[in-house]
Amino acid sequence: MEKRKMIAGNWKMNKTNDEALVLVKELLEEVSNNKDKDILIAPPFTALSEISKLIKSSNIKLGAQNMYFEDKGAFTGQISSSMLKSAGCEYVILGHSECRIIFSETDELINKKIKHALEVNLIPIFCVGETLKEREEGLTNKIIDNQIKKGLNSIEEKLAKNIIIAYEPVWAIGTGKTASPEDADKVHAEIRKTLTGIYNLELAQNTRILYGGSMNEENAKSLLSMPNIDGGLIGGASLVASKFSRIVNCAI
Ligand code: PGA
Repeated sequence: MEKRKMIAGNWKMNKTNDEALVLVKELLEEVSNNKDKDILIAPPFTALSEISKLIKSSNIKLGAQNMYFEDKGAFTGQISSSMLKSAGCEYVILGHSECRIIFSETDELINKKIKHALEVNLIPIFCVGETLKEREEGLTNKIIDNQIKKGLNSIEEKLAKNIIIAYEPVWAIGTGKTASPEDADKVHAEIRKTLTGIYNLELAQNTRILYGGSMNEENAKSLLSMPNIDGGLIGGASLVASKFSRIVNCAI
């Protein structure tokens, strides 16, 4: 089923507040006329509040790059959902491979975060993806299936239907290597099968599945043209307004 495409920028650990505001102003100029896609940016925590004021009446939505699942308390260095909501966020990226690999986030922890986000009405962008070794060993579908099942463990359908999934092959992130549109589409179709198994066909068909991993202004159109690819989660190319806006404004 065709859904509105979503183009999401994951800024990762980039941009001081001044730099962030410059980028957002440029983006507002370049994408504010776009009516056919949903546009989201996930800047660093420190810039969220200020950016939220700037984009308030625009077509750009705000997301965070992570959060903790507890509401408040002695969790030094962590950010809660209420802090994100008060800073203007509607979305939160969870389970990104950099958090899994560099910061040892487990499927169980990610599951708690997803559950909490859904309970407080933040839309999670739940990331999954295989490493190069896993792909070469033919384990892609098994790994993704496992990540999805564990990430969504004991989450009821009425909450799960609000989730966005991002398929981000680890070997394609920041490497300039992109999954071919056909290969990415196949994995997205597998993800829908897994969702059908856990929930039902309707939820699986309605769930937005983004592709991430070296998506840029050159390859976006061919990836976004695939039937199972509902948008992109973009790292490097989201840091340059002209590149991000070409992805947003590409004719698809
Ligand atoms: P990339 O990052 O576009 O720089 O490969 C994507 C991501 O990690 O979300």
